[in-house]
Amino acid sequence: MKRETPIEEGLELQPIRPVYLVSSEHNGKKNIISVGMFAYFSGKPTLVGIGIAPSRFSYGLIHKSKAYVVNVVDEELMEAVKICGENSGRDVDKFDLAKLTAIPASRVSAPLIEESPLNIECKVVQDVEVGDHVWFIGEVLATHVRKGYGWKDGLLLKWVHEDTCMEEGLYYKVGEKVGIY
Ligand SMILES: Cc1cc2nc3c(=O)[nH]c(=O)nc-3n(C[C@H](O)[C@H](O)[C@H](O)COP(=O)(O)O)c2cc1C
Repeated sequence: MKRETPIEEGLELQPIRPVYLVSSEHNGKKNIISVGMFAYFSGKPTLVGIGIAPSRFSYGLIHKSKAYVVNVVDEELMEAVKICGENSGRDVDKFDLAKLTAIPASRVSAPLIEESPLNIECKVVQDVEVGDHVWFIGEVLATHVRKGYGWKDGLLLKWVHEDTCMEEGLYYKVGEKVGIY
């Protein structure tokens, strides 16, 4: 038997909700934003997307520079996710605050986060306003992976909304193998 839930509640029960750190740079100003809205859009060309609310400082940087880097997070970066999701680059330097290191990317102007095990360089090819977010569709131009990193080391985040959205976040690592395809 099923019950109809309030929409928010139903969506919160989705099992897999990854989070990423997205870095950007424009006119010498670097920033990092925590992002849950990430998706694959195309295989050839390889297109991914991130949903960024126009109120975010990162929005302007990505809109103007037409580039971003999706940085995968692991357990070591949990605190950085919190810092980059609760502070704005308008007020603070998040590389300093989260003790992260910006290193040059090979194909785009946005920096890589050195401490991330996997960086995905993207050039914006399209931006699409969808409701209260803008989806920056990015062509993946390069990826960089830390030696020894395996996808199981990646961290998933499931957050619980309660009254104050993101504040009740719970972190999970990926689980066990249950089948083949
Ligand atoms: C786990 C988590 C996921 C988030 N996902 C998104 C997202 O997908 N898109 C977005 O615009 N903001 C998202 N946010 C909110 C931004 O990270 C937050 O508003 C941040 O302070 C904006 O930084 P900025 O102003 O420096 O760009 C998320 C926050 C957290 C904690």
